Amino acid sequence: MGLSRRRIKASHLSVSLHSQRMPTMGAPEKDPREEVVQAWYMDDSDEDQRLPHHREPKEFVSLDKLTELGVLSCKLDADNYETDEELKKIREDRGYCYMDFCEVCPEKLPNYEEKIKNFFEEHLHTDEEIRYCVAGSGYFDVRDHNDKWIRVWLKKGGMIVLPAGIYHRFTLDANNYIKAMRLFVGDPVWTPFNRPHDHLPARKEYIKAFVEKEVGDHAVNSAA
Ligand SMILES: [Fe+2]
Repeated sequence: MGLSRRRIKASHLSVSLHSQRMPTMGAPEKDPREEVVQAWYMDDSDEDQRLPHHREPKEFVSLDKLTELGVLSCKLDADNYETDEELKKIREDRGYCYMDFCEVCPEKLPNYEEKIKNFFEEHLHTDEEIRYCVAGSGYFDVRDHNDKWIRVWLKKGGMIVLPAGIYHRFTLDANNYIKAMRLFVGDPVWTPFNRPHDHLPARKEYIKAFVEKEVGDHAVNSAA
């Protein structure tokens, strides 16, 4: 599938998700997604990967900045996902016909230790990675335009869409449990391509769509 079609759909999702912002009396607009999706720049320490790894002082990242990286997010009703019309619409609009659940804990995930290790290896996919957290929580780390790690904390009710070609990794947080709905366009392909895999068309398309564009915009802005 061509990237242009994906990008049109991505912007459509973005627009519909921005409508989740609700004005409050006398206060700045509150985006409900921030209750279930938070992001920040990571420190460089080698401590336990399940710790938050905030910088000192903390450097939070806006959901708009994530959108610039191609990472989309929304808040949904995780207690009623079976009948949720909003989820149904997202699946229809974006062609997410495949759905299953992945529970990450020693009792439910075969080869738990090995999987946990693999999830945290920096990798990319040739398709979107869509995860909807219906219980627990976890960290999805993504690279920004300057190759810095941004930690995205996904909690119950949060959905994120990582674009094809973005380098990322996953870890549980200190609560050690997540149950995530996995969505996919067509038959699922979960293959991770560990870094470096810069020659893949999906990576090249990602760079063109989200990295070079950003660099170009900055050049225009600074020249203005
Ligand atoms: Fe992945």
